[in-house]
Amino acid sequence: MRMRRKHNLDERLEQVKDYILERTIADRNMKTSVEIKDYIDYKKVFGNDNKVELEIGCGKGRFINELAKRHPDTNFIAIEMLSNVIVDGCERAQKENLKNLKFMILRAECLPSYIPEHSLNKIYINFPTPLPQKGYEKQRLTNRKFLAMYKTLLNKDGSIEQKTDNRGMFEYSLCEFSQGGFYLKEVSLDLLNSPMSQNNIMTEHEKKYSDMLLPIYKLTAAPIEALNDNGVN
Ligand SMILES: C[S@@+](CC[C@H](N)C(=O)[O-])C[C@H]1O[C@@H](n2cnc3c(N)ncnc32)[C@H](O)[C@@H]1O
Repeated sequence: MRMRRKHNLDERLEQVKDYILERTIADRNMKTSVEIKDYIDYKKVFGNDNKVELEIGCGKGRFINELAKRHPDTNFIAIEMLSNVIVDGCERAQKENLKNLKFMILRAECLPSYIPEHSLNKIYINFPTPLPQKGYEKQRLTNRKFLAMYKTLLNKDGSIEQKTDNRGMFEYSLCEFSQGGFYLKEVSLDLLNSPMSQNNIMTEHEKKYSDMLLPIYKLTAAPIEALNDNGVN
């Protein structure tokens, strides 16, 4: 179902334009756009050399705003393909006057055009759309095609954190990470009742599902190459 464009959306986006990284490539043409490189100059954008973390599919930005507030010495970029929802996240950041957070209205498929290779410390994928229907597997954000791309963006200490309320999606992700060149550092089948809940920041979706007392699943994974580099077997 197509989401209705919010009333006043253009005006609202204009109001928060300092929080949105404008790129020149037409993202609709994904084939062309991934071939073109228009890397973000982090130093120019954030005014420092701090490490950079990325959230994919940030929705209304509850999680990334709180994370950026708690970690002023880290820079954050949050992407979301729907301008209808990302605008809320930009407004929150503006209200808090956050200097270390920027947003992009972008599909994950286009990230290699903008994010310099091996420049990210962490990638967050919170409550990705499960897409259980046949034929949609390649669009799942933890499909191994995406994982291979994320690997090119992570630095040597980089890792990925994923949360979901959907058990099928979680099982799928565990298999994809394990077979897609990552190793699992941490796994929880009930995040809120586990030690991994320390410092946990709830997303919009997470809040809704944990209020219903449903379990939240979480994994942290890192490229398998890091095991060899760090001399761990
Ligand atoms: C279920 S919502 C979760 C939103 C938020 N992370 C949360 O936990 O509340 C999934 C979000 O991912 C976005 N999304 C799905 N596929 C995407 C893609 N390929 N690129 C960017 N965003 C995507 C959707 O538009 C949607 O806002």
